[in-house]
Amino acid sequence: MKALVTGGAGFIGSHLVDHLVAEGLDVVVVDNLSMGDLHNIKHQDKVTVYVEDVRNEKFMQQLLQEEQPDYIYFLAAVASVADSIERPAETHSVNQTAVFNMLEYIRKTNLPIKQFLFTSSAAVYGNLPELPKKEDSRVDPLSPYAIDKYATERFVLAYGELYDLPTVCVRFFNVYGPGQNPSSPYSGVLSILTDCLNKKKPFTLYGDGSQTRDFVYVEDVIQALWLITKSDTEHEVFNIANGNEASLNAIIETYEKVAGTSLQIKKAPGREGEVKRSVANIGKLIKLGYTTKWSLEAGLSKYWEGA
Ligand code: UD1
Repeated sequence: MKALVTGGAGFIGSHLVDHLVAEGLDVVVVDNLSMGDLHNIKHQDKVTVYVEDVRNEKFMQQLLQEEQPDYIYFLAAVASVADSIERPAETHSVNQTAVFNMLEYIRKTNLPIKQFLFTSSAAVYGNLPELPKKEDSRVDPLSPYAIDKYATERFVLAYGELYDLPTVCVRFFNVYGPGQNPSSPYSGVLSILTDCLNKKKPFTLYGDGSQTRDFVYVEDVIQALWLITKSDTEHEVFNIANGNEASLNAIIETYEKVAGTSLQIKKAPGREGEVKRSVANIGKLIKLGYTTKWSLEAGLSKYWEGA
């Protein structure tokens, strides 16, 4: 069995690649290294890596023909709400067009795949009041990022139904853990917090810190992705989260305790297009056998150990 992981040198992608290798799959990675790093992949010798951009349509088509993957995990993305507000056309070309082009090619050539898994985001739910967010809750995408993710989900699911392709979508909540790149101001907040605590740098807190998120440790995310693959599920959407809501203030406090050091905080106005509260219902995933193995404290301790 062969798996193609786009974004496979990135934070979540590289953990997935390591897992797939351990499960005995042949793994092919496409990554333009914009945020990823080949060193993130533990078993590089066992993986075929192409340093390319998923927007290179000709390259991607050739790759699919040559490699004939059974499983496709589409993780390549510009994974940032704020980035999409600053550069909407560019983020759209990655977050939507590249995925659409691949689907269209699979349809036209009848490429025999076992699963096409698209990684969407909790951002699609927006600020509607119902909590926790269920896969069939109303959506309210507030940013170009969220709109691209939601629209692409719809393409992925509709292509699945209309053209009988084995497609599935997941909505990542806030994933954290080793390998997350803190270098951009739009990087995941826990990678930035880790960097600030480590280097005793000031942390910029956007808003009053009362915004909440559902933080899930990357190993639990990989567990969820693998369960979905093994279940042969089709045409479904799954939340991938921990199922617990925590405010940014509470997270900072917990992390300071775990790290045994205090953070220097600079306040800044809240970011545009942001969600105020986020927490997932993970019942659908639990039905597949998912159990969260990492509480926030355990995950933060593990992350801090390796930092
Ligand atoms: C994150 C993901 C996004 C995912 C979404 C799902 C990243 C980079 N983004 O977006 O891909 O689809 O969750 O819920 O992982 N903050 C600060 N200071 C900082 C950085 C962030 O105060 O230096 C605040 C933000 O304003 C925000 C919160 O921390 O309120 C979380 O921010 P971030 O980690 O960027 O995640 P989301 O915007 O939730």
